[in-house]
Amino acid sequence: MNNDTFCPKDFPELKNDTFLRAARGEETPYVPVWCMRQAGRYLPEFRESRAGKDFFETCRSPDACCELTLQPLRRFPFDAAIIFSDILVVPQAMGMDVEMVAGKGPTFPDPLKGPEDLQRLRPKVDVAAELGYVFNAITLTRHKLEGKVPLIGFSGAPWTLMSYMIEGGGSQTHSKAKRWLYAHPEASHKLLSQLTDVIVEYLLGQVAAGAQALQVFESHTGCLGPAEFKEFSLPYLRDIARRVKDRLKESSQDNVPMIVFAKDGHYGLEDLSQSHYDVVGLDWTIDPRSARERTGGKISLQGNMDPCALYAPKERIGEIVKKMLEGFGLRGYIANLGHGVYPDMDPEHVGAFVEAVHTHSQKLCK
Ligand code: CP3
Repeated sequence: MNNDTFCPKDFPELKNDTFLRAARGEETPYVPVWCMRQAGRYLPEFRESRAGKDFFETCRSPDACCELTLQPLRRFPFDAAIIFSDILVVPQAMGMDVEMVAGKGPTFPDPLKGPEDLQRLRPKVDVAAELGYVFNAITLTRHKLEGKVPLIGFSGAPWTLMSYMIEGGGSQTHSKAKRWLYAHPEASHKLLSQLTDVIVEYLLGQVAAGAQALQVFESHTGCLGPAEFKEFSLPYLRDIARRVKDRLKESSQDNVPMIVFAKDGHYGLEDLSQSHYDVVGLDWTIDPRSARERTGGKISLQGNMDPCALYAPKERIGEIVKKMLEGFGLRGYIANLGHGVYPDMDPEHVGAFVEAVHTHSQKLCK
């Protein structure tokens, strides 16, 4: 690898801007499509590249991240790429240990137990030093994409990261993290603000490195009620979009769309559609027409086919896609799944999904 591949300038010209146009609500010749976790274990080449290697070591290798990001694009005509990384690199940058345990998922050996543990976090995070490896992966991948499709950068949202840092891993109830919201609201806000500051710098660094769009994952919205969402999630989501956009504007880079994906947070859909994001990502538990009505047609939408619908025979996938396109309409719409592709998915069915979106939307756009 020569030094040019890490230089965030002179990127190849973008050839397919349908995803960016749809994010901005502009007309497109067909509906663009990508899949959350499009780089993942359902691909044999992904399993081969990852075999025997530590997950976060892989995340720290720009070459490996670039290769894993490009793999799904060699198979399917996706309209966007998403950088291979993980939301939990942010808690690592703040000083926490995180391991990926096979069969268990992400695990924090020493999670935050009470407010006094906030002292264990770095008071000031040097984002470029701690997460520079992600920026290098983005720059390299943007060059290697050769302008085929735009590259999406991402971060976890404050509440989702806070809940991992307290639970120490996945959880059904998130009751340890929710205990903080009710028993230690001040410490909760302190942690959420600290996370927000790091996330803002992290997202801006990704754009400087070459990311052409940003997605913020609030994966743990479903365990909050509307009041807790309004107090502990929404203000921070808003703050992130506002601060990132203001700073991008200052540097005349205000053409980077931002997507918010608050899984299972449909009670907050109206609020999310007015939170400074360009696109709201949806899971499959909401009807496309009602999502359009509730967001007033003012914002672009992304989603939302049930990932399990990919288990259906290919013809049936086509029918489901057609209904979804009719429900969302063709303008200001990015097709995606309502969550990530499952590891046991037949890659051919992912291909059938992409093809169905392109074919049916092309016909309907005429
Ligand atoms: O293709 C892409 O979508 C880009 C890469 C990406 C990964 N993780 C790679 C990954 C993205 C965008 C994420 C985000 C992420 N990570 C989220 C938010 C999205 C969501 O799922 O709600 C969350 C909650 C995490 C935390 C995390 N990392 C989990 C829950 C897991 C799965 C653990 C398991 O064993 O199933 C991971 C691991 C992970 N991150 C994998 C991938 C491809 C699979 C593990 C592997 O490759 O060894």
